[in-house]
Amino acid sequence: MIYKTTSARQTLALGKKFAKKLRGGKVVAFYGDLGAGKTTFIKGIAAGFGIKKNITSPTFVLMKVYSVRSRQLAVDRLVHIDCYRINRASEIMAVGADEYFNDEKAVVLIEWAEKIKKILPKKTIKINFFFGEDINHRKIEIKK
Ligand SMILES: Nc1ncnc2c1ncn2[C@@H]1O[C@H](COP(=O)(O)OP(=O)(O)OP(=O)(O)O)[C@@H](O)[C@H]1O
Ligand SMILES: [Mg+2]
Repeated sequence: MIYKTTSARQTLALGKKFAKKLRGGKVVAFYGDLGAGKTTFIKGIAAGFGIKKNITSPTFVLMKVYSVRSRQLAVDRLVHIDCYRINRASEIMAVGADEYFNDEKAVVLIEWAEKIKKILPKKTIKINFFFGEDINHRKIEIKK
């Protein structure tokens, strides 16, 4: 499914709506150039899960784990991983991030997931971000 947004706010709203379809055990991979809107969409997901904390990319720490209280979605952790700075998948494994891939109560969101292609689970949902005609336009493709 392809969506078009014309502002960061719309991308946030799309992320928030998408969060409603997520359940514990889901892994979502985000692809797209710098500034394409991956983190913006993830902020929307976090808002959808009721996370009040400000979400910033874990570019240097590689992973951030947020507590979620959602019985309805059967989720108790939102895990945000950013692979931008890494060169090999083992760096992500070194911080224990892959241990969340099979955690039925965690939702795992991975920016620059192409860097860890070989360890991504088969079930991973893929979201591609593209720049559009206008500076604030984005095309967002969600692949199940
Ligand atoms: N339609 C849009 N959707 C998302 N972001 C938009 C849109 N229009 C403008 N922007 C702006 O583009 C930037 C997107 O930044 P964001 O951090 O989400 O990108 P990113 O893909 O995570 O980049 P990085 O690879 O550096 O992590 C923000 O400054 C945001 O305000
Ligand atoms: Mg980002």
